[in-house]
Amino acid sequence: MNVITSPNNILEIKDLNLRYQTLAGEVYAINHVSLWLEKGQALGLVGESGCGKTTLAMAIMGLLPKNVKIASGRILFQQEDLLGKTREEMRKIRWRHISMIFQGAMNVLNPVQRVGDQIVEAILTHMNLSRDEARDRVADLYEMVDLDPKRINDYPHQYSGGMKQRAVIAMALACSPDLVIADEPTTALDVMVQHQILDELNKLRNSLEMSLIYISHDISIIAETCRRVGVMYAGSVMEHADALDLFAHPRHPYTRGLLSSYPSLLGDKKRLDPIPGEPPNLLEYPNSCIFCHRCPERDDVCRRTLPELREVAPGHMVYCHRA
Ligand SMILES: Nc1ncnc2c1ncn2[C@@H]1O[C@H](COP(=O)(O)OP(=O)(O)OP(=O)(O)O)[C@@H](O)[C@H]1O
Ligand SMILES: [Mg+2]
Repeated sequence: MNVITSPNNILEIKDLNLRYQTLAGEVYAINHVSLWLEKGQALGLVGESGCGKTTLAMAIMGLLPKNVKIASGRILFQQEDLLGKTREEMRKIRWRHISMIFQGAMNVLNPVQRVGDQIVEAILTHMNLSRDEARDRVADLYEMVDLDPKRINDYPHQYSGGMKQRAVIAMALACSPDLVIADEPTTALDVMVQHQILDELNKLRNSLEMSLIYISHDISIIAETCRRVGVMYAGSVMEHADALDLFAHPRHPYTRGLLSSYPSLLGDKKRLDPIPGEPPNLLEYPNSCIFCHRCPERDDVCRRTLPELREVAPGHMVYCHRA
């Protein structure tokens, strides 16, 4: 089995396959994805643009657009399959149990409504609180994410980018969820603010005992934030392991390529080695390893057969024939 199941896992994704149905044909957006996340831990998902990170997050949230076909697989959250839930059941799980900081979220604050009121509305929609209680809750949340509660009545344009992002994080934490999915939460921010926000998220994860999925195309951010890491490529998880193990002993040629394009992680000043070639067109899914045409280590087996996600060291999963 490509998932190590445990009652300590808050989330287990088992062999998930999703397709977008488009006029051009089916887009193989998520292929054979298996992952797990232990309660209270942070899982980083890293991969280049278009590799399926947001699609996977939306699948967990039960917010996939109508043109998605779930071909097969399971998403177990606290041992229950989310894909078998009705819309109403998912509505009760969303925000209360699983919440998300959406990609580009700080730009979706309504410019003509006070920030605090937007969070109050979100709380009233999902929790059984009076308006006064919700306002108190917002003040607590502001303290939690290190925003000055005196700014609750400001409009979004009166906030800096970092403040808006903190407000959006407060909104995601409003109902004390068990799992928060943060999709590129700091990409639009400068490096200093980025680090403050990352720090904050990690402190909150610890103090609130919540689990976190942290999505980024930037592997150095993932390295700083997450205990486990899943490396995605063209809709598949290429490698999934404890962060220390993955960075010390990357087993997949794609992961090695990704790491060698980040000098800060390797700590030396050698020449950067970008991976030659382009990700494949996902309008068809090959009967070979999806990374094969760019892989410096490919052989005949890689060209002819799909690999299986295999455990090559304790808890270290690799989607490669040759690992
Ligand atoms: N609504 C949609 N309809 C059709 N195809 C889509 C749709 N949304 C995404 N896709 C395709 O699915 C694949 C995965 O996209 P997704 O947005 O999940 O990637 P991502 O890893 O989040 O990328 P980014 O880093 O740019 O945010 C891409 O090939 C994309 O073009
Ligand atoms: Mg995305």
